[in-house]
Amino acid sequence: MAMPRKHAFPVDRIRHFLEPGPVVLIATAWKDERAVMTCGWHMMLGYDLVGTYIWEANHSHALARKSRQCTINLPTEPLLDSVVRIGNCSSAQVDKFERFGLTAVPAREVHAPLVGECHAGFECQLHETRITADYPLFVWRVLRAHAAASPRYPRTLHYRGQGRFMVAGREVSRRRLFRPDMLEQ
Ligand SMILES: Cc1cc2nc3c(=O)[nH]c(=O)nc-3n(C[C@H](O)[C@H](O)[C@H](O)COP(=O)(O)O)c2cc1C
Repeated sequence: MAMPRKHAFPVDRIRHFLEPGPVVLIATAWKDERAVMTCGWHMMLGYDLVGTYIWEANHSHALARKSRQCTINLPTEPLLDSVVRIGNCSSAQVDKFERFGLTAVPAREVHAPLVGECHAGFECQLHETRITADYPLFVWRVLRAHAAASPRYPRTLHYRGQGRFMVAGREVSRRRLFRPDMLEQ
Protein backbone atom coordinates (compact mmCIF):
# COMPACT_ATOMS: atom_id res chain seq x y z
CA MET A 1 0.00 0.00 0.00
CA ALA A 2 1.28 3.49 -0.88
CA MET A 3 2.52 5.83 1.89
CA PRO A 4 1.06 9.29 1.40
CA ARG A 5 3.65 12.06 1.65
CA LYS A 6 2.94 14.30 4.65
CA HIS A 7 3.67 17.93 5.40
CA ALA A 8 3.56 19.97 8.62
CA PHE A 9 -0.02 20.54 9.74
CA PRO A 10 -1.27 23.12 12.30
CA VAL A 11 -2.09 21.44 15.60
CA ASP A 12 -5.11 23.70 16.15
CA ARG A 13 -6.68 22.25 12.99
CA ILE A 14 -6.32 18.54 13.68
CA ARG A 15 -10.08 18.53 14.29
CA HIS A 16 -10.28 18.40 10.51
CA PHE A 17 -9.23 14.75 10.85
CA LEU A 18 -10.20 13.75 14.38
CA GLU A 19 -13.46 15.56 15.05
CA PRO A 20 -15.48 12.61 16.20
CA GLY A 21 -18.95 13.45 15.01
CA PRO A 22 -21.70 12.99 14.40
CA VAL A 23 -22.65 16.48 15.45
CA VAL A 24 -25.43 16.37 18.04
CA LEU A 25 -27.98 18.79 19.44
CA ILE A 26 -27.93 19.00 23.23
CA ALA A 27 -31.14 20.23 24.86
CA THR A 28 -31.33 21.32 28.49
CA ALA A 29 -34.01 22.82 30.72
CA TRP A 30 -34.13 24.39 34.12
CA LYS A 31 -37.32 25.82 35.68
CA ASP A 32 -38.97 27.82 32.86
CA GLU A 33 -35.82 28.10 30.73
CA ARG A 34 -34.70 25.79 27.95
CA ALA A 35 -31.69 25.70 25.65
CA VAL A 36 -30.48 23.80 22.64
CA MET A 37 -26.96 23.88 21.23
CA THR A 38 -24.89 22.21 18.55
CA CYS A 39 -22.08 19.99 19.84
CA GLY A 40 -19.30 18.30 17.94
CA TRP A 41 -17.01 17.50 20.86
CA HIS A 42 -18.37 14.37 22.47
CA MET A 43 -17.37 10.77 22.90
CA MET A 44 -18.62 7.39 24.14
CA LEU A 45 -17.09 6.50 27.51
CA GLY A 46 -18.83 3.17 27.99
CA TYR A 47 -21.92 1.49 26.54
CA ASP A 48 -24.28 3.93 28.28
CA LEU A 49 -21.91 6.82 29.12
CA VAL A 50 -21.28 9.84 26.91
CA GLY A 51 -18.92 12.75 27.53
CA THR A 52 -19.78 16.16 26.10
CA TYR A 53 -17.61 19.27 26.15
CA ILE A 54 -19.84 22.31 26.73
CA TRP A 55 -18.03 25.65 26.96
CA GLU A 56 -18.84 27.75 29.98
CA ALA A 57 -19.89 30.71 27.83
CA ASN A 58 -22.80 28.70 26.45
CA HIS A 59 -26.16 29.11 28.13
CA SER A 60 -26.53 25.33 27.91
CA HIS A 61 -23.60 25.00 30.31
CA ALA A 62 -25.49 26.83 33.06
CA LEU A 63 -28.69 24.86 32.48
CA ALA A 64 -26.80 21.55 32.37
CA ARG A 65 -25.02 22.35 35.61
CA LYS A 66 -28.21 23.37 37.40
CA SER A 67 -30.47 20.60 36.12
CA ARG A 68 -27.83 17.83 35.82
CA GLN A 69 -29.85 16.51 32.91
CA CYS A 70 -29.98 16.84 29.15
CA THR A 71 -31.10 15.16 25.97
CA ILE A 72 -28.62 14.35 23.21
CA ASN A 73 -30.27 14.39 19.80
CA LEU A 74 -28.97 13.14 16.45
CA PRO A 75 -29.69 15.49 13.51
CA THR A 76 -29.38 14.32 9.91
CA GLU A 77 -28.89 16.02 6.55
CA PRO A 78 -32.23 17.91 6.30
CA LEU A 79 -31.31 19.71 9.55
CA LEU A 80 -27.85 20.83 8.38
CA ASP A 81 -28.60 24.58 8.05
CA SER A 82 -30.45 24.61 11.38
CA VAL A 83 -27.53 22.81 13.04
CA VAL A 84 -25.23 25.69 12.03
CA ARG A 85 -27.73 28.39 12.98
CA ILE A 86 -28.44 26.76 16.37
CA GLY A 87 -24.70 26.95 16.98
CA ASN A 88 -24.60 30.63 16.07
CA CYS A 89 -26.96 32.10 18.65
CA SER A 90 -27.60 31.79 22.35
CA SER A 91 -30.62 30.45 24.17
CA ALA A 92 -30.04 33.26 26.63
CA GLN A 93 -31.44 35.59 23.93
CA VAL A 94 -33.82 33.45 21.92
CA ASP A 95 -35.96 30.33 22.23
CA LYS A 96 -34.28 28.25 19.54
CA PHE A 97 -37.11 25.69 19.41
CA GLU A 98 -39.43 28.48 18.24
CA ARG A 99 -36.91 30.24 16.04
CA PHE A 100 -35.90 27.11 14.13
CA GLY A 101 -39.28 25.38 14.09
CA LEU A 102 -38.12 22.49 16.26
CA THR A 103 -40.62 20.34 18.14
CA ALA A 104 -39.88 19.99 21.86
CA VAL A 105 -41.08 16.46 22.59
CA PRO A 106 -41.46 15.68 26.31
CA ALA A 107 -38.91 13.16 27.54
CA ARG A 108 -39.81 10.34 29.94
CA GLU A 109 -36.95 10.47 32.45
CA VAL A 110 -35.69 14.04 32.28
CA HIS A 111 -37.11 17.54 32.23
CA ALA A 112 -35.13 18.55 29.10
CA PRO A 113 -37.12 18.07 25.88
CA LEU A 114 -36.19 15.81 22.98
CA VAL A 115 -35.84 17.39 19.52
CA GLY A 116 -38.64 15.74 17.54
CA GLU A 117 -37.10 16.29 14.09
CA CYS A 118 -33.91 14.37 14.99
CA HIS A 119 -33.36 10.75 13.97
CA ALA A 120 -32.59 9.67 17.54
CA GLY A 121 -32.68 11.12 21.04
CA PHE A 122 -31.10 10.04 24.30
CA GLU A 123 -32.28 11.07 27.76
CA CYS A 124 -29.30 11.69 30.02
CA GLN A 125 -28.50 12.21 33.68
CA LEU A 126 -25.21 13.66 34.89
CA HIS A 127 -23.09 10.72 35.99
CA GLU A 128 -19.81 12.24 37.13
CA THR A 129 -19.44 15.59 38.85
CA ARG A 130 -15.73 15.69 39.81
CA ILE A 131 -14.49 16.25 36.27
CA THR A 132 -17.14 18.90 35.60
CA ALA A 133 -15.87 20.88 38.57
CA ASP A 134 -12.53 21.41 36.78
CA TYR A 135 -13.37 21.11 33.07
CA PRO A 136 -16.46 21.89 31.01
CA LEU A 137 -16.74 18.16 30.44
CA PHE A 138 -20.04 16.52 31.35
CA VAL A 139 -20.18 12.76 31.63
CA TRP A 140 -23.76 11.61 31.05
CA ARG A 141 -25.46 8.33 31.72
CA VAL A 142 -28.07 7.55 29.07
CA LEU A 143 -31.27 6.55 30.87
CA ARG A 144 -33.48 6.03 27.85
CA ALA A 145 -32.91 6.02 24.08
CA HIS A 146 -35.30 6.64 21.18
CA ALA A 147 -34.44 5.99 17.52
CA ALA A 148 -36.30 5.99 14.21
CA ALA A 149 -36.43 2.64 12.40
CA SER A 150 -35.67 4.22 9.04
CA PRO A 151 -33.53 5.21 7.35
CA ARG A 152 -31.46 2.33 8.63
CA TYR A 153 -28.21 4.20 8.01
CA PRO A 154 -29.02 7.86 8.66
CA ARG A 155 -26.96 10.54 6.91
CA THR A 156 -25.43 12.10 10.02
CA LEU A 157 -23.38 15.29 9.99
CA HIS A 158 -19.68 15.34 10.87
CA TYR A 159 -18.04 18.69 11.43
CA ARG A 160 -14.52 19.13 10.04
CA GLY A 161 -13.88 22.76 11.09
CA GLN A 162 -13.64 25.79 8.81
CA GLY A 163 -17.39 25.64 8.17
CA ARG A 164 -17.20 22.28 6.37
CA PHE A 165 -19.17 19.12 7.12
CA MET A 166 -18.87 15.57 5.98
CA VAL A 167 -22.25 13.88 5.51
CA ALA A 168 -22.24 10.17 6.31
CA GLY A 169 -22.40 8.25 3.09
CA ARG A 170 -21.43 4.83 1.77
CA GLU A 171 -22.02 2.01 4.24
CA VAL A 172 -19.67 -0.97 4.07
CA SER A 173 -19.55 -4.22 6.02
CA ARG A 174 -16.54 -6.20 7.24
CA ARG A 175 -18.52 -8.53 9.52
CA ARG A 176 -16.67 -11.52 8.11
CA LEU A 177 -13.34 -10.16 9.47
CA PHE A 178 -14.57 -9.76 13.05
CA ARG A 179 -14.13 -12.22 15.91
CA PRO A 180 -17.75 -13.33 16.62
CA ASP A 181 -17.65 -12.12 20.24
CA MET A 182 -16.69 -8.65 19.00
CA LEU A 183 -20.03 -8.43 17.18
CA GLU A 184 -22.25 -8.89 20.21
CA GLN A 185 -22.75 -5.14 20.82
C1 LIG B 1 -20.72 22.47 14.16
C2 LIG B 1 -20.68 23.08 15.53
C3 LIG B 1 -20.11 22.35 16.57
C4 LIG B 1 -20.07 22.89 17.87
N1 LIG B 1 -19.51 22.15 18.88
C5 LIG B 1 -19.52 22.65 20.14
C6 LIG B 1 -19.03 21.86 21.22
O1 LIG B 1 -18.59 20.73 21.07
N2 LIG B 1 -19.07 22.40 22.47
C7 LIG B 1 -19.56 23.65 22.69
O2 LIG B 1 -19.58 24.10 23.87
N3 LIG B 1 -20.05 24.43 21.68
C8 LIG B 1 -20.05 23.94 20.43
N4 LIG B 1 -20.54 24.69 19.40
C9 LIG B 1 -21.00 26.06 19.68
C10 LIG B 1 -22.37 26.11 20.35
O3 LIG B 1 -23.32 25.34 19.65
C11 LIG B 1 -22.81 27.60 20.38
O4 LIG B 1 -21.92 28.33 21.21
C12 LIG B 1 -24.25 27.78 20.81
O5 LIG B 1 -24.65 29.06 20.39
C13 LIG B 1 -24.49 27.65 22.29
O6 LIG B 1 -25.86 27.86 22.52
P1 LIG B 1 -26.46 28.19 23.96
O7 LIG B 1 -25.88 29.53 24.42
O8 LIG B 1 -27.92 28.28 23.72
O9 LIG B 1 -26.06 27.10 24.88
C14 LIG B 1 -20.60 24.18 18.11
C15 LIG B 1 -21.18 24.89 17.05
C16 LIG B 1 -21.22 24.35 15.78
C17 LIG B 1 -21.85 25.14 14.66
